[in-house]
Amino acid sequence: MSCAFASFWIIERLVTDYRLSKVDGVRASILGGNPITSFFFFFKGAYMHSQNRLLEYYFSMFDSADPSCPSAVEITIMGRRSIVTIDPEHIKAVLATNFTHFGKGERFHSTWEPFLGDSIFTTDGQLWQQSRTLIRPMFLKQKIRDMDIVERWSDVMISKIPASGQTVDISDLFYRMTLDATTDYLLGHSVESLENPKGEFSKAFTYVQRKQMLLTLLAPVRSFIPKGEYKRGIKVLEAFIQPFIEATLALVPEELEKISKSDKEFTFLHQIALFSRDPKVIRDQIMAVLLAGRDTTAATLSWALYELSNYPETWYKLRSHVLQKVGPDAVPTYEDIKDLTYLTHTLYETMRLYPAVPFNIRTCLENSTLPGQPGQPDIATLKGDHIIYSTLAMQRHKELYPPVSETFADPAIFSPERWDHWTPKPWQFVPFNGGPRICIGQNFAMTEMAFMMIRLLQKYERIEYRGDWAAQYLKADIVGCPGQGVPIALYEAEKRY
Ligand code: HEM
Repeated sequence: MSCAFASFWIIERLVTDYRLSKVDGVRASILGGNPITSFFFFFKGAYMHSQNRLLEYYFSMFDSADPSCPSAVEITIMGRRSIVTIDPEHIKAVLATNFTHFGKGERFHSTWEPFLGDSIFTTDGQLWQQSRTLIRPMFLKQKIRDMDIVERWSDVMISKIPASGQTVDISDLFYRMTLDATTDYLLGHSVESLENPKGEFSKAFTYVQRKQMLLTLLAPVRSFIPKGEYKRGIKVLEAFIQPFIEATLALVPEELEKISKSDKEFTFLHQIALFSRDPKVIRDQIMAVLLAGRDTTAATLSWALYELSNYPETWYKLRSHVLQKVGPDAVPTYEDIKDLTYLTHTLYETMRLYPAVPFNIRTCLENSTLPGQPGQPDIATLKGDHIIYSTLAMQRHKELYPPVSETFADPAIFSPERWDHWTPKPWQFVPFNGGPRICIGQNFAMTEMAFMMIRLLQKYERIEYRGDWAAQYLKADIVGCPGQGVPIALYEAEKRY
C-alpha cells in the first residue's frame, strides 16, 4: 500500500514537472513538498476553519514564502496543485485579464451541483453567460429604484426590536429580514422568518450552507462525508420554492406578459419564466440568487452595527447626515441614498474589513500565468490547478495601505473618514469581486443596506454593545459573519425633529 502510494506520488511529481517544463513561468514557493506534509497543511486548514482561525492560517502560509515571490505559495493535495495567493495583481489576472483561463471548474460544479444546480454560480463559459443574460434585467437601475420590498421588510424588522435600551441580537434580525425580503423579491412570497424564527426553511438554509462550505473545503475526500441531512435540507428548500414555480409555469404567456408590465407583481421568478419554461433552470437560478443575496447583505449589516456600536461618534455623525438629508420619518429615495456619501463610506469601510465572501477559489481551465513581482518571472499555472484567493486577507494586508497619518487611520481600525481622502488602488478593494463575473447585485445590495441603515438611524439616536466587543470573531463559512452574533441596545430618539 505504502509502496503504491509512494509510486503514485513520484509519478505525479514527474508529470507535473514535465507539464511545467512545457510552459513559461516559474513555480511559487512550495509548501508541503511531500504527501505527508501536504496532508498536514490540508488538515490544519480544516482544523483552523473549525476553530474560526482561517485568516490566521492563511497569513501563516506566506511566512516561509521565497522573497522573490512573497505573496503566493503552492501546495499539492491528492495530485491537485493549488496556488494560494494574497497578491492583488494575481486576483486581477484571475478575475479579469486572463478571465477565460480561470473559472469555477468541474470539481466546484460537481461539489455544488446538488444545491445550486447549473446556475450562474456554478457554471462557466456559455452556460454562465446565458445565466448572466437571464438575470441581468432584474438588476437594472430602474428596478432597483423601487424599494417597496425593502421598505416593507425593514419596517417589520424594526417592529421586532425590543424597547429602548433592551438587548437584541441585531444580526439574527438582519438574517431574518434579508431572508424575508429576498424570498419576497424572488418569488413574490416571503418565508416570514421574522414572524417564525424557528421556521424549517431558514434552519435548512443555514444547515445546507454550512455543509456546503465543509464539502468545498474537503472536496478531495467529499465522497466519504455523510450527506443525508444536507440532501434533506435541500428538499425542504425545494418544497417551498416549487409551488411558486409551478404556479408561474401554469400562467398562459399572455398572463405572464401582462404581469411583466406591472411593477408591483413582477418578480424574479416571472423574469426567468419569460425566457425558460424548464422548472430546473428556474429552480437553480432562484436558489443561486437566494444564496448570493441573502447572507451577504445580512452579514455586512451585522458587521456595520458591530463596528458602529464601538464608535458612537460615527453613529451620531451618520444620524445627523440622515436627518439633514432625509428627515426623521420620510422614506429615503434612491437619490437620497446615493447622496449620503458618508453612509456609503461607512459601508465600504465595513466591507474593507469584513468582505462578505472572505475566501474564494478558481480552477485553471487552460495553462496560464499569474504576474510575477516587478523584475521577476511570471508564475506558471497548469490546467486543473486551483487558485485560492482571499479578499479578506488581501484587504487586511498592511503593506497595501499608505502610512498612518492624520487622515489615514491604522488600516486595522474601522474608520469611514479615511475614504474622504483616499481611494484604494485598483484591485486592492474588491468585496464584490471584479471583471466579467463581478457581483451582479452590487448596486441592489448597496441600496438595500443603505436603506436599512437609514431607517435605523432615523429612529435610534444611540447604540451600545452588550457583549464582549473584543472577543468577537469572524466565522468564515461561505459568507463571513460575526461568530457571537451582535448583541446591542438601541436607544430611541426622545425628540423627533
Ligand atoms: C454586501 C453584499 C454583497 C456582496 C459583498 C457580494 C459579493 C459577491 C461576490 C464576491 C461575488 C463573486 C462570487 C464568485 O464568483 O465567486 C458575487 C457574485 C454574485 N452576486 Fe453578490 N454580493 C452581495 C450581494 C448580492 C445581492 C443582494 C445579490 C442579488 C440579489 C447578489 C447576486 C450575485 C450573483 C447572482 C452573483 C454571481 C455572479 C456571476 O457569477 O456572474 N449579490 N457577489
